[in-house]
Amino acid sequence: MRLFAALAIVLASSVALAPPAAARAGQEAAPVLTGADAVDSATFARPQEARVTHVALDLALDFEAQRVSGTATLDIQARPDAREIVLDSDGYEVESITDAQGRPLAYALGEGDERRGRPLTVRIGEARRIVIRYHVGPEAKALQWLRPEQTAGGRHPYLFSQGQAILNRTWIPTQDSPGIRQTWEARITAPEPLKVVMSGERLTPAGEPAGPGLRAYRFRMTHPVAPYLIAIAAGNLEFRAIGPRTGVWSEPETVEAAAREFDAAERMVEATERLYGPYRWGRYDMIVLPPSFPFGGMENPTLTFLTPTVVAGDRSLVGIMAHELAHSWSGNLVTNAVWPDGWLNEGFTSYIENRIMEALYGHERAAQEEALSWDEAQAALRELGADSPATALHAPEDAGGSSGIAYDKGAIFLRTIERAVGREAFDAYLRGYFDRHAFQPMTSARFLADLRAHLIRGDADLERRLRLDEWVYGTGLPDNAARSDPAAFANVDAATQAFVAGGPVAAVPYGEWNWAERVRFLQSLPRQMDRARLAALDEAFHLSDSTNSETLFAWLRLALANRYEPAVSAAERFLAGMGRAKFVVPLFRALMEQGEWGEPIARRIYARTRPSYHSVTSGAVDRLMQRGS
Ligand code: BES
Ligand code: ZN
Repeated sequence: MRLFAALAIVLASSVALAPPAAARAGQEAAPVLTGADAVDSATFARPQEARVTHVALDLALDFEAQRVSGTATLDIQARPDAREIVLDSDGYEVESITDAQGRPLAYALGEGDERRGRPLTVRIGEARRIVIRYHVGPEAKALQWLRPEQTAGGRHPYLFSQGQAILNRTWIPTQDSPGIRQTWEARITAPEPLKVVMSGERLTPAGEPAGPGLRAYRFRMTHPVAPYLIAIAAGNLEFRAIGPRTGVWSEPETVEAAAREFDAAERMVEATERLYGPYRWGRYDMIVLPPSFPFGGMENPTLTFLTPTVVAGDRSLVGIMAHELAHSWSGNLVTNAVWPDGWLNEGFTSYIENRIMEALYGHERAAQEEALSWDEAQAALRELGADSPATALHAPEDAGGSSGIAYDKGAIFLRTIERAVGREAFDAYLRGYFDRHAFQPMTSARFLADLRAHLIRGDADLERRLRLDEWVYGTGLPDNAARSDPAAFANVDAATQAFVAGGPVAAVPYGEWNWAERVRFLQSLPRQMDRARLAALDEAFHLSDSTNSETLFAWLRLALANRYEPAVSAAERFLAGMGRAKFVVPLFRALMEQGEWGEPIARRIYARTRPSYHSVTSGAVDRLMQRGS
C-alpha cells in the first residue's frame, strides 16, 4: 500500500514536475512545478536553470544598531550548463560572495521595481554551494525592532519577522518564491538574556555561549518549505507547556494568560489529525508577540505567530489558533505555487478552521463563525462588484486580493463540494490530497485535476452540479453555493430588527451574547445612525470600553462612520495600542471617508501611531492616506 502510494507520487512527478535531484546527501529536493500556471511573477528567480535547495544562516542580532549581519550559505541545484543563479533581494547589503572554498564569485544587482525588489545574479560557474556575507539595518521590511518601551515587560528590546508574502527577501538572500521549497538551518547570536526562537526545530533550547554577553541558538527545518515560512523572534521570552507537543512562548508578563487562552492546543492538533492525517512538523508551539504584530496570526511552521489581541481572556478568539494550525496542512504542507492562487492556502484553511471549531466546540459555535464568514464574502462582493475580475478565486495578477474572496469564498467553495459529495467522501478526499501533495507546491489547475481524478471520477452529473471552473475562474458567487445555517443568528437577527424598527436598547440582550453574536448585531445595524441611538448603545453596553478586539472593532467602524465623537478617544487608544492591519487599516479608512470631520483626526492619530507599526501596517495606511489627500 505504502509502496504503491510512493510509486504513484514518482509517476505523477515525472509528468509535470522538474526532475528532482539530490540536494545534499540523503535528501531529495522538493519539486518545482513547470507549468505556465506555476510561474511566479513576484520572483526574479529562474528555478528551471538554478535553484536554491537549502539555506544555512549564521547571523548576529545587534539590537542597538537594529542590524542583522552574517552569512547565508546556499546549496544550489542547477542544470549542468548553468553558470549563474538569480536570487531575490530587497535592501540587504551584500559584502561578498564566495564558493564553498572561499574563492570570490562575481555578482550584480539588476534593475527591479518597488514591489519585487531587485534580482541578485551570482556568477556561480561550476559552484553548487555559495556563501553570501551580508547585513541589513532597521529598514528591512520583514523585521520589526522594538524598543523596550514597546514590549509588555518594558525592560528588553524585541525583534520579530513577518515573511509572507514577499518580505523575507529583505533579510534573507535566497529565492523568495513559494514554489521553490528549501530546507534550512540557522545559528543566531543575540545578547543575553534575550532568547531566540524560529519556525523550525530548536537544537539548543538554552542557547550556547557565543562570546562575552552573547548566546547562540541553533535551529533546523529538515522538510522543504516555502521560504516565506522562515521566521524569527527574539526577546525576553518564556515558554509554558500546554500538552506533550504544544506550548506557548511570550514575555513573562503575558505567558500565563496566553497558556490559559490556548489551553485547547493539544486537543486541536489531535482533532485535526483525525480529520486530515498526521501532523508532520513535530511540535506545534505558538508565540504571542507584542501588539504591533501586523496579523492576527501567521502559520510559521512549528511556531505559529499570534497577535496579543486574540488573548481575550475568555478563549473566544481561539478560531485564530485553529486557523494557523490548519495551515500545517493547507499552506505549509501543500502550498500555493504563486500568490494569485493564495486561496489554496487561505480558503482551504478557513474551511478547515471551521471544521476544527466544530470538532472542539460543536455545531452551533461553528455555524455562527461560518455565518460571519458568509457575511464577509457578501461584503467583499458588494465592495468589489460581483462581476469584478478580483472576485475570482484564482485572482488576476494585478488584483489586490480581498480576504473576503480568498478566505471566505474559498471556504464556501469547499463547503459546497463537501455538501454535494457528503462529508465522509470529502474528508477522505482531502486527506488523500494532503498525502499526495505533501511538501509540494499547488496551483488551481492542479487542484482541479486532482479533484476530478480522485473525487469526481467521471461522474458527469456531479461534475455538472459542482461547476468547478466557474467557482475557481469565474466572478461572483455561483448560485449553488452552500449557504450558512440561517438559524445560527436567528435570535440576534430578531433582536436587531426590533431595535432598528425603533425598539428600546433595553430589549437587546447584548450582555448575554457571545462575541460572534455581538459582532453580528453591530454589523447588521444600519450604517447611518443618529447620535442618540449610538449613545444609547454605547452607554448601555459600554461598547467603547470593549475588551474583545473584534467587538470593539465592529463598534468603532460603525461609530466613526457616523462621526460619533465620543468614540474617537477609544479609537485612538485602540490604534495606539496594537498594529494589526485588519483593524488599523479599516479604522483609518473609516475616518478618511469622513472628509472634513474624519481626515484631520486620522492624520493626527496616525502621526502619533505610525512609528510603532510594522511596515505591513504602515505601508497600507501610507497608501490610504496618499489616496485621501
Ligand atoms: N497567512 C495568513 C496571514 C497573511 C496572509 C500574511 C497573506 C501575509 C499575506 C494567516 O494565516 C491569516 O490568515 N491570518 C488571519 C487570521 C484569521 C483569518 C483567523 C489574520 O491575520 O487576521
Ligand atoms: Zn491564513
